[in-house]
Amino acid sequence: MTIEQQLVGLIEHDDSVDPFPVIGWDALVWVVGNATQSAHFLQSAFGMRLEAYAGPETGDRDHKSFVLRSGGARFVITGAVDPDSPLVAHHDRHGDGVVDIALEVADVDRCVARARAHGAIILTEPHDETDEFGTVRSAALATYGDTRHSLIDRSAYAGPYLPGYVARTCAREPGKRVFQAIDHVVGNVELGMMDRWVDFYRGVMGFTNMAEFVGDDIATEYSALMSKVVANGNHRVKFPLNEPALGRKRSQIDEYLEFYRGPGVQHIALATGDIVETVDALRAEGIEFLATPDTYYEDPELRARIGAVRVPVDELQRRGILVDRDEDGYLLQIFTRPLTDRPTVFFELIERHGSLGFGKGNFKALFQAIEREQDARGNL
Ligand code: FE2
Repeated sequence: MTIEQQLVGLIEHDDSVDPFPVIGWDALVWVVGNATQSAHFLQSAFGMRLEAYAGPETGDRDHKSFVLRSGGARFVITGAVDPDSPLVAHHDRHGDGVVDIALEVADVDRCVARARAHGAIILTEPHDETDEFGTVRSAALATYGDTRHSLIDRSAYAGPYLPGYVARTCAREPGKRVFQAIDHVVGNVELGMMDRWVDFYRGVMGFTNMAEFVGDDIATEYSALMSKVVANGNHRVKFPLNEPALGRKRSQIDEYLEFYRGPGVQHIALATGDIVETVDALRAEGIEFLATPDTYYEDPELRARIGAVRVPVDELQRRGILVDRDEDGYLLQIFTRPLTDRPTVFFELIERHGSLGFGKGNFKALFQAIEREQDARGNL
């Protein structure tokens, strides 16, 4: 098994029979209120490295974009420069968030033909962009809310990111890498819309159902949600989709939908090979995580369920790291508090040991932790 197979749970897959073959993640493109500072935060706290840049100095007078990388994960952090930029209205509505879950594909035209035949909205038709480093062919499809999927074929391109970007590094010595890859990206959609978006990913992109979580699994005393997971052929790209379910109080998904003003990306799971080291490094940088109560670790059922894991339970407890086991193996995971002013997007850190799951056994404990924070914000 390769490192990547273990890190993100890849499976064998034959692309030749796939109607919409996806190589993997290309980039997560964010729109934020202050790209200069957000890019600095992701470098200083999350150990990402600056690789490329576009902005007024490179002829782009509308906005600045910083391209950051950590292992196989690429983030593009964009903020408006021109007060009349359309990004200003986008940010005014949604706050900081992910606007584009860009996917790398080998054949943009084939994917767009499939998408069109299955009723997808094509935001940008397939086209070429060229500079001295070669040519990128790309297109973009609409997905939930104001989110899109760019489809990128970079096989004939050797530049630092896309045509128009220049290579750029930071004078500051980068810290130790704390994550290696994107594991999954979760979307929150409105009540009643989860199955519609599951059908979208199945029909348009040929994704398959991986898991679903409904009913008691993920209900707390106060609120509930439903979640289904779709994945591409090799499972590199995994999209859990959540919708609120009716509960006694307002669910965390309702809170997100209110503050993001509609559907959008809720959390991004970052794969790490050593979650203990990662969490210690992030805490040292001031990153805050959701608190896990001691009762979670003292529950004899938990210890029986998880069996032997590589880190002693008291080490996990000291850091609030959650653990779950299924028929394939186990995983360790932890969630940050919201990364932005609005209670919307956050990160998960995940260390997989065979498990292809998402921590179903932890959903209840996790949601209770989120609700304690929601309550503190006056939004429960
Ligand atoms: Fe997750």
